[in-house]
Order: sequence, then structure tokens, then C-alpha cells
Amino acid sequence: MGRLQGKVAIITGAAQGMGAAHARRFLAEGAAVTITDIDAERGEALARELGERAAFYRLDVADEENWATVVDATEARFGPVTALVNNAGIIGSPTRCADLTQAEFQRVCAINQTAVFLGTKHVIPAMIRAGGGSIVNISSISGIVAIYGTPNVAYAASKFAVRGITKQVAIEYGKQGIRVNSVHPGYIKTKMMTDALDEDGIRVASASVPIGRVGEVEDVSNLVVFLASDESGFITGSEYIIDGGLTAL
Ligand SMILES: NC(=O)c1ccc[n+]([C@@H]2O[C@H](COP(=O)([O-])OP(=O)(O)OC[C@H]3O[C@@H](n4cnc5c(N)ncnc54)[C@H](O)[C@@H]3O)[C@@H](O)[C@H]2O)c1
Repeated sequence: MGRLQGKVAIITGAAQGMGAAHARRFLAEGAAVTITDIDAERGEALARELGERAAFYRLDVADEENWATVVDATEARFGPVTALVNNAGIIGSPTRCADLTQAEFQRVCAINQTAVFLGTKHVIPAMIRAGGGSIVNISSISGIVAIYGTPNVAYAASKFAVRGITKQVAIEYGKQGIRVNSVHPGYIKTKMMTDALDEDGIRVASASVPIGRVGEVEDVSNLVVFLASDESGFITGSEYIIDGGLTAL
């Protein structure tokens, strides 16, 4: 039996990168999965490839009305939602604080931070109906430490905020069977990383990681599956760093 047999999951930002890897693993472990993203073309193609236990809905995570529709559609199709992976995120402009506009700061926070609140808010009633559930919030090592050399106060602020949302909601809903944890990846090989670093940059990044390589999307899926599964039933309000030892330095 799969480790997520019978679970109904919504994964945001799942058309590519880590979100797509999580969708594949969740399906393989027996879950039904709603793939969501603003990239409808990629998202629909992935859902088609994964078969009838997968569905795609276009969801801009920063749009509250959109969330209500997606949660209702998922429940109608697969049953009450029992897992949510708040994965969608953007880096935003690598600009030092004094030069960063308020509009850019708010754009990054809307997608990385407010959206985590919105998704959490909208799945809680469904999870209560289902008797419980697991919310996995994807933050970053930028939600644990400041990263020297990559100026981005909006990203740092939003990813630190994800830890706060995680811990507060975990204690508010623990007795109703809802667990909430955050995941803090270091360098992981996705488009987000290759947009930010050229090949030389990736080599330098790999050499700086104590384990000697950057992460693969599957490394993170292993952790997310564990947190979504009943194997982690006594774990809530916790943060999980997955960075090959980078923040241990
Ligand atoms: N790649 C890394 O090295 C790394 C490290 C630490 C944390 N993270 C975090 O992991 C998560 C996934 O990152 P990734 O590397 O897979 O990125 P990615 O850029 O490969 O994929 C992100 C996905 O999010 C979608 N998205 C963007 N804005 C959206 C919105 N408003 N609504 C819905 N979907 C939206 C994009 O279309 C894309 O499909 C992000 O939260 C990111 O901050 C990534």
C-alpha cells in the first residue's frame, strides 16, 4: 500500500520544478492530486500524463476567490482535502533594501506569504470535515538565515513569515487533527535555480554545500511525502531544513 493511500492533496506551483516532482510522488504513493499553477499549459499536460487520479486547476495563489473554487472542485472530484503543499513561490528582484520598491516587496510577499495564509485558511474546513490533514509549507533556508551576497529582503521576509504562519496554525488546529510543518530547501536544481545561476554559478554552489552537490527535486519530495503521510503523525509546528548541510556551516 502507498504511503499516501486515500489522501486527497492540493499542490500549488506544481506545473514544474519541485511542485511537479511532489505531484508525481504523491500519485505514486496512492494519493489523488490537484495540480495547481498559473501556467495552465504545463499544468494541464502534467495532469493528462498522470491520469485520472490527477486534475489540474488554474490557481493564482494570491487570489482568495480562486482558492475557494479550487478547494470546492477538489472536494467534489476526489473528496475532502487531507493534504496541502503550499509550494508556489517566486524570488523577485535581487535588489538591496534601499532600492527595492514597495510594489515589488508586496508582490513577492503576496505570492510567498499571503498565499500560504489563504491556502491554509481555505483547506482547514475541508480538513476538519475529513477528520484531519497535513499542511506542508515550502519556505527556504532564506526563512532560517540571511543569505550573504544575494540581496532580497522581500524573499527573506516572506520565507521567515512562512515559519510563523506554520507554527501559529499548528497550535490553533492541532486538536482537530491538522498538522502544519515547514520545509526549508537550500540549492535545489529547478528553473528557479537555473534562472538565478549559470553553470559556473551552480558549480560554485555545489562546492559550497558540505554534501558536495546541489539538491534534486526528488530529495525534497521524499521529505514532503513523509510530512504529508501518517508516518509523521506526532510532528507539527516544526521546520525541516533540507540543504545538504549548508546552514550547518
Ligand atoms: N529551487 C530552489 O533552489 C529553492 C530553494 C529554496 C526554496 N525554494 C522554494 O521552493 C518552491 C518551489 O520552487 P521551484 O524551485 O520549484 O520553482 P519553479 O520556479 O521551478 O516553480 C515555481 C512554480 O510556481 C508557479 N507560480 C509562480 N507564481 C505563482 C502564482 N502566483 N500562483 C500559482 N503558481 C505560481 C510557477 O508558474 C512555477 O510553475 C518555491 O516556494 C521556492 O521559493 C526553491
